[in-house]
Amino acid sequence: MTFLLEFAYLAATALFVLALHWMNDPSTARRGVIAGAGGMALAILGTLLSPGIMNWGLIAIAAVAGIAVGIPLSRVPLTAVPQRTALSHAFGGAAAGLVGVAKFHLFLGDGGHGLTRFITIAIIGEVILGFVTVTGSLIAAAKLQEVKWVPQRPLTYPGQNVVNLMLLAIAVACGMAIVVNPAGFGFLFPVVIVLAALFGVLLVLPIGGADMPTVISLLNAYAGLAAVAMGFVLDNKLLIIAGALDGASGLILSIIMSRAMNRSFGNVLFGAFGQVTTAAAGVETRKAKTETAEGAAQFMEIAETVVIVPGYGMAVAQAQHRVRELYDLLRKRGVTVKFAIHPVAGRMPGHMNVLLAEADIPYEDLVEMDEINADMPRTDVVLVVGANDVVNPAARSNPASPIYGMPIIDADKARMCFAIKRSMNPGFAGIENELYFAETTFMLFGDAKAVIGEIVKSLQASSASSAD
Ligand code: TAP
Repeated sequence: MTFLLEFAYLAATALFVLALHWMNDPSTARRGVIAGAGGMALAILGTLLSPGIMNWGLIAIAAVAGIAVGIPLSRVPLTAVPQRTALSHAFGGAAAGLVGVAKFHLFLGDGGHGLTRFITIAIIGEVILGFVTVTGSLIAAAKLQEVKWVPQRPLTYPGQNVVNLMLLAIAVACGMAIVVNPAGFGFLFPVVIVLAALFGVLLVLPIGGADMPTVISLLNAYAGLAAVAMGFVLDNKLLIIAGALDGASGLILSIIMSRAMNRSFGNVLFGAFGQVTTAAAGVETRKAKTETAEGAAQFMEIAETVVIVPGYGMAVAQAQHRVRELYDLLRKRGVTVKFAIHPVAGRMPGHMNVLLAEADIPYEDLVEMDEINADMPRTDVVLVVGANDVVNPAARSNPASPIYGMPIIDADKARMCFAIKRSMNPGFAGIENELYFAETTFMLFGDAKAVIGEIVKSLQASSASSAD
């Protein structure tokens, strides 16, 4: 039995590492997901083989409850995946935190012999990180879901960071007192839990909705570290390894996202980005030029190169399949079509890659930002599909802009640009976009799926008439 258990854990560890490796590239990402799920199934099976399981009934109830929650969660639309992910982290944090609470009281009830310094430190770490993750992730999910009673904008007040850090310091101090004398200071244990939970809420409230995906990734890292601490408490090597992988990958992803937005990590956490400023730039009086879908279709069919820049609006409109039809039609006419992929387009890493893969667009036509920017001045037509911040030239030219310094896709440098969106409303960063007023830009107002559908119809009609 022990051999089987060790083997299952070893195989699960290997699958987790492979899963992360395969998820580095869109072409192998699906394999990565399967490997991760397989690793988790092996880990659960292995754990069920452990000696000393006392209550199969409770395990069955927990499994049924997990499946009942997990299946509907797996069916959410792609646009809701960031908040769904936050909920998963809340469950992970809750599992770690509750195991810590149970273990502490079991050890205490057993005369406290098991509560060595090391184990008690691990339990306190597990409980603090676990409960910070629970409440922080719930607030993050609520902000992304635009729940009424949780404002999306950053909630700030003077001295906020000091208050938050003091709360955390008090929780850690109580935890240290428990480490020194678990029986004597055990009554402080609930105080640690409450302070950690409160800290999670207060940590996330001052962060704007725009930064939530980065924060969720950081909370992922906390949940991973809580799992590492849980691994030490339960003396389970697989939990330690899986938690460390989770913690490190979450942290690395948050750093990659911050870099792609040209923001420091500290600025994301404490910068209250997305705050509504009263010193607005004034009322916009310029008018953007508009074009019809038929007009845009005519320009595209005589172009040699068309670059499509997808953004969050393509996800909202679920326009990826129409985009595929457009891609096919243009290629049939001998037009070279490429997709410009910005690392933070949409609302989660790889958002555009996932949508375009769903529509079976070949990976080789998805081009990273740096590479495609070099070709922009030679590009005949750029079609912006629901992207805004990631094509905003203010990031290059306006030091006062909140997105200044963020690398962008240089849609304004192409010979002609068509931008599809429903209105002149700003994107996630809440700022005006100079691209829409550029000499070479024409707006195609409407829902992305509907507008691309019209362009496709026009191209089909023109193909039919030239065939006659
Ligand atoms: P955004 O700047 O958010 O702009 C999306 C645009 O899509 C909006 O201007 C909106 O304009 C339009 N839109 C919405 N629904 C539409 C529909 N049904 N049809 C057509 N257009 C529609 O998107 P982006 O350019 O992809 O930039 C992403 C932003 O999110 C960046 O600021 C980035 O820093 C931030 N962010 C991303 C991530 C990751 S990892 N992706 C993480 C953190 C933050 P209308 O309302 O006028 O239609």
